[in-house]
Amino acid sequence: MRKPIIGGNWKMNRGTPKESKKMLESLILLVKGIKSVDIVICAPFTVLTTIYEILKNTNIKIGAQNMHFEEKGAYTGEISPTFLKDIGVEYVILGHSERRDIFNESDALINKKLKKALSMDLKPIVCIGEHLEEKEAGKTNDIIKYQINETFKNLTKEEILKTVIAYEPIWAIGTGKTATPEQAEEIHIFIRELLIRKFDKETANSIRIQYGGSIKPDNAEDLFNKRNIDGGLVGGASLESDSLFQIIKAADKTYK
Ligand code: PGA
Repeated sequence: MRKPIIGGNWKMNRGTPKESKKMLESLILLVKGIKSVDIVICAPFTVLTTIYEILKNTNIKIGAQNMHFEEKGAYTGEISPTFLKDIGVEYVILGHSERRDIFNESDALINKKLKKALSMDLKPIVCIGEHLEEKEAGKTNDIIKYQINETFKNLTKEEILKTVIAYEPIWAIGTGKTATPEQAEEIHIFIRELLIRKFDKETANSIRIQYGGSIKPDNAEDLFNKRNIDGGLVGGASLESDSLFQIIKAADKTYK
């Protein structure tokens, strides 16, 4: 049994202490008592300390949206995983397509960050996914295979088991064009097959694979009903407590 995980990725869209507090105080009340879903809010760095105070002793965990691969050094503008650990951050998103595309993060760089996060006991949520042109050219499986091999290079079984994979087709992010549950499930099955080949069946069947890309309250349940979809990484619909709660409820309902 894989416990579903719902990550709210606020990106750079929410992050002042005041608006974050308002949203989270409302969400805390709504999700109180939900035990069969891991709930994570991935907020901008500047508000992480504030939300730690609001979320401690609740069932909502804190995630960052990125980190550096070193603990310390002359890296102006970067954030060390040590800083994140120190303020109570538990999860970290790595290799989001916006980081890959806009900030030129390579699979090799993401692999370095991933190894470091795991060595520091931060739980990584690692994003993979194809562009629209790649999908249209029939290259989705090649891209996914390459990303699985390179991003997860040299990971031990113990390490991959602590990692959450987020399959996010880039053409579905922020566009309102969600993959159909069937399309998403097909890729999730393919990812699991690759993981079986790379590790073994038992390990692969224990790894959580989230879907991400225009998840909304009205499509969440159909997606999460699929056997290989273990929750979601949610952008736009995570900004308001009510819509995020509807999505969390859908994951709770479809816990298999
Ligand atoms: P979206 O973003 O839900 O707004 O499409 C998802 C993501 O980028 O993680």
